[in-house]
Amino acid sequence: MNSIPLPSLQAIMPVVVIDTVDQGLAIANGLLLGGIRQIEVTLRTTCALKACEAIARDVPQCLLAVGTVLTVADMDHAVQAGAQLLISPGLTNRLAEQAHLKSLPWIPGVATATDMMNARDWGYSVLKFFPAMAAGGPTALKALSAPLQDLTFIPTGGVGLADLPAWKALPSVQGVGGSWLTANLQGMKPGEIERTVAERAAEALKHWQQA
Ligand code: 3PG
Repeated sequence: MNSIPLPSLQAIMPVVVIDTVDQGLAIANGLLLGGIRQIEVTLRTTCALKACEAIARDVPQCLLAVGTVLTVADMDHAVQAGAQLLISPGLTNRLAEQAHLKSLPWIPGVATATDMMNARDWGYSVLKFFPAMAAGGPTALKALSAPLQDLTFIPTGGVGLADLPAWKALPSVQGVGGSWLTANLQGMKPGEIERTVAERAAEALKHWQQA
């Protein structure tokens, strides 16, 4: 457990790049319909924080994580927008200090044994393994986990449905993150987004359960 307790998480964390607030709401509603009650909204688009506010207000059943948190200002803005969890691709001392100071639930990213030992020193034991596939996939994480048995990972980056069994087979993996659930939604109306995302979410959960 991280020194600041994290909310309880499902095994699939949908990583989302949101283009409009309405699209964000439709995605969050679609995920819920498909059984996934959490979303990681990345701070990569100008409307991301507005979408977070809307999701926190209109879809409160969905646990709101904010990802691509790179700076202390990102942390503050995300919390103001309703974030219940913060996620970063890496770990900087500034972010770790801020998370500590303000008791923020934060999952930093790691890719190497040194990253993992640094995160462990800071009191973090639930970590995003990023970029999961490019950093060596399940084979690499299995080897890295062997000497670091008190750490738990959420591999993210290049992960798809077909990879779920190999990740689930690792005792150190509590779940995975990925953008495949919400890819290629451009041009769809909100109802179509909801249906598409609901189908993909249900499929992902089923694959994880059966893996
Ligand atoms: C992230 O921000 O966590 C990753 O970019 C998501 O990776 P993916 O798009 O390869 O799933």
